[in-house]
Amino acid sequence: MMTSKEIRNSFKAFFESKGHKIVPSAPMVIKGDPTLMFTNAGMNQFKDIILGNAPIKYPRVADSQKCLRVSGKHNDLEEVGYDTYHHTMFEMLGNWSFGDYFKKEAIDWAWEYLTEVLKLDKNRLYVTVFEGSKEEGLDRDDEAASIWMKYLLEDRIINGNKKDNFWEMGDTGPCGPCSEIHIDLRSDEERANVSGRSLVNHDHPQVIEIWNLVFMQFNRKADKSLEELPAKVIDTGMGFERLCMAVQGKTSNYDTDVFQTIIKAIGDITNSQYGKDSKKDIAMRVIADHIRTIAFSITDGQLPSNAKAGYVIRRILRRAVRYGYTFLGQHHAFMYKLIPALIDTMGDAYPELIQQQTLIEKVIKEEEESFLRTLETGIKLLDKQIEEAKANNTTVLSGTVAFTLYDTYGFPLDLTELILRENSMTVDTKEFDAEMQKQKDRARNAAAIETGDWVMLKEGEQLFVGYDMTECEAEILRYRKVKQKNNEYYQIVLSQTPFYAEMGGQVGDSGWLINGDEKTEIIDTKRENNLGVHLANKLPSDLTATFTARINEKNRTATECNHTATHLLHEALREVLGTHVEQKGSYVSPAVLRFDFSHYQKLTDEEIRKVEKFVTGQIRQNITLDECRQVPIAEAQAMGAMALFGEKYGEEVRVIRFGNSIELCGGTHISSTGRIGTFRIINESSIAAGIRRIEAISGEVCEEYIYAQQDILSDVRAFFNNAPNLKQTIQKFFEENAELKKQAEEYIKEKTVQVKELIIKSKQSIHGIDVFVMTGSFPAEIAKDIAFQIKGQFPAKSVFIGTTSAHGKPMLTLMFSDDLVKNGMNASQIVRDAAKHIQGGGGGQPHFATAGGKNIDGLQSALDEIISKI
Ligand code: ALA
Repeated sequence: MMTSKEIRNSFKAFFESKGHKIVPSAPMVIKGDPTLMFTNAGMNQFKDIILGNAPIKYPRVADSQKCLRVSGKHNDLEEVGYDTYHHTMFEMLGNWSFGDYFKKEAIDWAWEYLTEVLKLDKNRLYVTVFEGSKEEGLDRDDEAASIWMKYLLEDRIINGNKKDNFWEMGDTGPCGPCSEIHIDLRSDEERANVSGRSLVNHDHPQVIEIWNLVFMQFNRKADKSLEELPAKVIDTGMGFERLCMAVQGKTSNYDTDVFQTIIKAIGDITNSQYGKDSKKDIAMRVIADHIRTIAFSITDGQLPSNAKAGYVIRRILRRAVRYGYTFLGQHHAFMYKLIPALIDTMGDAYPELIQQQTLIEKVIKEEEESFLRTLETGIKLLDKQIEEAKANNTTVLSGTVAFTLYDTYGFPLDLTELILRENSMTVDTKEFDAEMQKQKDRARNAAAIETGDWVMLKEGEQLFVGYDMTECEAEILRYRKVKQKNNEYYQIVLSQTPFYAEMGGQVGDSGWLINGDEKTEIIDTKRENNLGVHLANKLPSDLTATFTARINEKNRTATECNHTATHLLHEALREVLGTHVEQKGSYVSPAVLRFDFSHYQKLTDEEIRKVEKFVTGQIRQNITLDECRQVPIAEAQAMGAMALFGEKYGEEVRVIRFGNSIELCGGTHISSTGRIGTFRIINESSIAAGIRRIEAISGEVCEEYIYAQQDILSDVRAFFNNAPNLKQTIQKFFEENAELKKQAEEYIKEKTVQVKELIIKSKQSIHGIDVFVMTGSFPAEIAKDIAFQIKGQFPAKSVFIGTTSAHGKPMLTLMFSDDLVKNGMNASQIVRDAAKHIQGGGGGQPHFATAGGKNIDGLQSALDEIISKI
């Protein structure tokens, strides 16, 4: 039996023999494409080539691509675990032709590979072809059907509608009719009873699609219309796990060697056996599937978080945790223990799993623990709601409750829905959405973006000249309008540009498009599918002019200082902390640089100082930039260049070298390290389990920062009369202060006792009531303290009146013993009335009340009024 590894290799070898270039898998997490968060198909990394925005380097390529289908147009999450052939993450084997071969070869080779190389039984195969669509104005794909007729009888060629046989990448983007190959894996007996044909595309777990051949001919535009592609493209995708099931003669993907080691590990850790109990089996499949997704996302640089792609990963992790909790009795973190089994299975093909094992385990463990802290409470709350709903004969849970579960207990909505579904219930999603909207409105972060279609002015590709020039001549190739919140702006693509488009952490350039006297400001430059897109608040008046495109050089230089400093910082961290330090993210702007890296504890002050010194040492050496463009990747690796897992690199890369710091990098750099001038770390913190963040500054910004620090120091020195030994002086000052405070407290204590005794001595008696009066200058707390002490000593028929002042402000304090209160005396009322004499106000309770005021001369008449009331 062929192993999964052999199957993967045989696919690549087959297409290599047909003249295809074998390329590596792109990262699963996508950066720089606003329409897509994760790679959801093998063709994603070729989108630019397909749309004609990037040159065709190899007209034929093939690969095995890590894909994730959990959001947007292609989302299989709901099915995962319940059936045996859907996954969140899966590998897609694919072959492509960009304007080279088309339907005939694609079909011939697919057939040859399946039936001759893998020797799948022809009698189990069916194919589908596009039946046409009136709405789109497209005819049936007779061409594909007639090619298939060479291999299959007509009754095995099935027409499919637009939903099944017209493949689209997303709401916009490349698309075209497709032809799918399905396989019937049922037993001979079952096949004799019910024809496979009737089960194709009917969600039968053993009659499933394995390969999709897409004949890309169109680009779906934002207005939904179809535009012809510049060249016809073949885009195929075969589900690797399903193929392994077919080749290995299994009836479930989870029974293949792709999943067996992981399933076994789950069984061992949770003390459960796969195949004994259907609920446990679902849970084990969910966990086996999800652990792959989570681990690969982390290696690709996407940690679980609360927003966007990070939230998708968090949701998936929480889904798995809850299955483990409910069905496998796992009340403590356990999923992180599955990583060794995953490495056993996939570490060979994807060595990043091995390199980042500690990090993956740490992140998962921490996420599990954090969710488990609220999971139980959330489940109890939900169980109670389910019971109540059942008692009330309703099957819909209020959206507000679902929102509380989401907001307070961290239950993603799909998790709540899942638990409800197990109880035949649903959520009022409208109400949930309304709650969510309210929260968003509150946070005012509804950043919905609407983009119009491109307005094309000129044919051509954009050339980036920004490594060598700060200005150049440029024409506008195309532009479009974008609406975001209440903001409208334009995106402009130029024929030639010196503007660096945001990537690899370095922010985009700003600058100007200049035509005669007219200067149109470029506020930022973003990257979309490898293309620099210039953002402007308004368009130039003459769109067809030849402009001077000029970047803001001051900002660029500051950014370059920070970028080079980031490389030196990376080198310094590996030098000082060790080579386990790996870059996990960076941000480089003119003002600041941020560097995220794997490391497991807080940096000590001493380590920070060492790192700073290392960097400034490299600055002083004034090392010149050694930039090599278009280096073959193998050569760059041989040079010792540090690459980032999760970054997509072509076969030729750019290497940036400053002495021993060698990195693959597309960003812009200063010509020699001396130009950075100076460097300081201003913050060090943790951003996730095992990941630390350093914020630092360099150049002029750093100089200003140092001046500001010095100014603070001079001010402080001046406070202390420029004492020669400032540190000792301040320390002494604190000690003296503490001593004085202690003395003052003791003094006050003594004084209070004396004052209290005096007050008691001069007690008056009015209608048989003891009246104690306190006057003089005291803080409010002392009057209160004495009032309560006197009440303790004279618990019946006693009144305390304080007419004191502190810092020139009058204060009234009134306390009645409880028997007087019972007889109707109300301190609060009386104080409020008396406060008028001191131009103030106050109140409290019937037995104790206070008032403050402005007129110190009114204290006597206030006292008189209180006494008269008594
Ligand atoms: N792009 C096609 C798919 O993902 C092959 O199914």
